Amino acid sequence: MNVGDERSVSFWMHESPVIDAPTLAADESCDVLVVGSGIAGLSTAYELARLGRSVVVIDRGGTGNGMTARTTAHLATELDDFYSELVKVRGEDEARLYHESQVAAVDRIEAICREEDIDCQFRRLDGYLVPTDEGPIADLQEEYDVCRRIGVEVEWADNAPVPGLETGRSLRFPNQGRFHPTRYLRGLAKVILQRGSRLYGNTAYCNHSVEGDGVRIETEPGPIVRARAAVFATNSPVNDKVAIHTKQLPDRTYVVAGRVPKGSVPDILLWDTYEAYHYVRIQELDDAHDLLIVGGEDHRSGEADDMDQRLGRLADWTRKRYPMFGQVEYSWSGQVLEPIDFMPYSGRNPGDTNIYIHTGDSGQGITNGVAGSLTIAALIAGEESRFADLLAPNRKSFTPTAAKEFVSGQAGVVKNLTEHLGPGEIGSEDELEPDQGAIMRKGTSKVAVYRDKHGHIIRRSAVCTHVGCIVHWNGFEKCWDCPCHGSQFSPDGQVLSGPAVRPLASGD
Ligand code: FES
Repeated sequence: MNVGDERSVSFWMHESPVIDAPTLAADESCDVLVVGSGIAGLSTAYELARLGRSVVVIDRGGTGNGMTARTTAHLATELDDFYSELVKVRGEDEARLYHESQVAAVDRIEAICREEDIDCQFRRLDGYLVPTDEGPIADLQEEYDVCRRIGVEVEWADNAPVPGLETGRSLRFPNQGRFHPTRYLRGLAKVILQRGSRLYGNTAYCNHSVEGDGVRIETEPGPIVRARAAVFATNSPVNDKVAIHTKQLPDRTYVVAGRVPKGSVPDILLWDTYEAYHYVRIQELDDAHDLLIVGGEDHRSGEADDMDQRLGRLADWTRKRYPMFGQVEYSWSGQVLEPIDFMPYSGRNPGDTNIYIHTGDSGQGITNGVAGSLTIAALIAGEESRFADLLAPNRKSFTPTAAKEFVSGQAGVVKNLTEHLGPGEIGSEDELEPDQGAIMRKGTSKVAVYRDKHGHIIRRSAVCTHVGCIVHWNGFEKCWDCPCHGSQFSPDGQVLSGPAVRPLASGD
């Protein structure tokens, strides 16, 4: 983990690191630099290495230690926002093609596991979409009808296999998948290294410029990387100040996990129709137990600080449906970037020639990351890509329906900017408990104040170094969250995740 990174540790992260990559110590040159070593970054590096390109991958933290390690790795080809919604904003042809991109992603993962002999417990299994207790807020019939029209394999089930509850009529999607995400990344990383490409951890992107027909990238701790092309696969793109960030919004999601007797919970994917939907899967643990993993309780980043209650509600929801679920042994949180037209942005960065981005994963981070890698690798190699136009970052996302969502989302950004003028959350540092942070007014500015476990006070400017929103304290992850585009900073102001690349300024 980064210095000062006290964010939650997922079940997947309790194992040894994906790979112990060294810090970049000398200038490098390569065909393609990939910034970010999650599912999108390492999958892109893998595809390019297979095509004979020399690739360098850098990551601000440990390799594979970002949001991919905080996912629950549902490999679902059904869209979590529903194809009936996607059809309204993009039409049936694009919805059909998007579904094909998700199928291609799961197929690709399965093929790579087989060809590279990666032991990550990949499984094919059924997925069930079940209504809420109060009845569906979304029309399952409408989703069924649209799925059948665009070629999504789906059928009705009288009941989904949930041990503690009659779910009522549900949709069954065959041939979904699941795997152990960090074991998969470890397998990819080994193959990338075997093919002569290089991985560096604790090496942050700082800046880039065009140099001849290539790209020059400055890093922290200092060495330069020169490449013919650069791919930014950093959850939220760190190379971009504004453009792409106006087309997506950051949400936080929560996960609880605990053991259940082996075989007592059916091996399926399950999710429901709540607005902040719940999502469920199991993971093999040992001869006697499986791990039941349940996510949900999402909210817009930086707009809640009641994580204990959210985790409590998640555990209650789980016990009602899975009475064999005992102790919560793991709990963690992740960030999800919600694109306004439900599909990720994968391809050439708008206005650039040799720079590519992947972002906007919504709740389909693994499948979108892999679909993005297939798209970007093909573009860099000059090959045909079926999904390039569909996922292009410069596509017009502002359809009339999507614009409504955009306007309400951007209202949060505007509201945040007015926080520069408002009062602080505390009037004095004395109000802070140990290991707690809050925003305090100091003259005309706002200061992010943190009292550490030993009582020492750390003051940083509360102004996010991306484009200037006011950060909020995240009491669960023990870090500063920026609600505008999702940057996170450690209690002492170091960047944990972008799009910000510079630490919070001094608050003294
Ligand atoms: Fe954009 Fe903070 S992440 S202003």
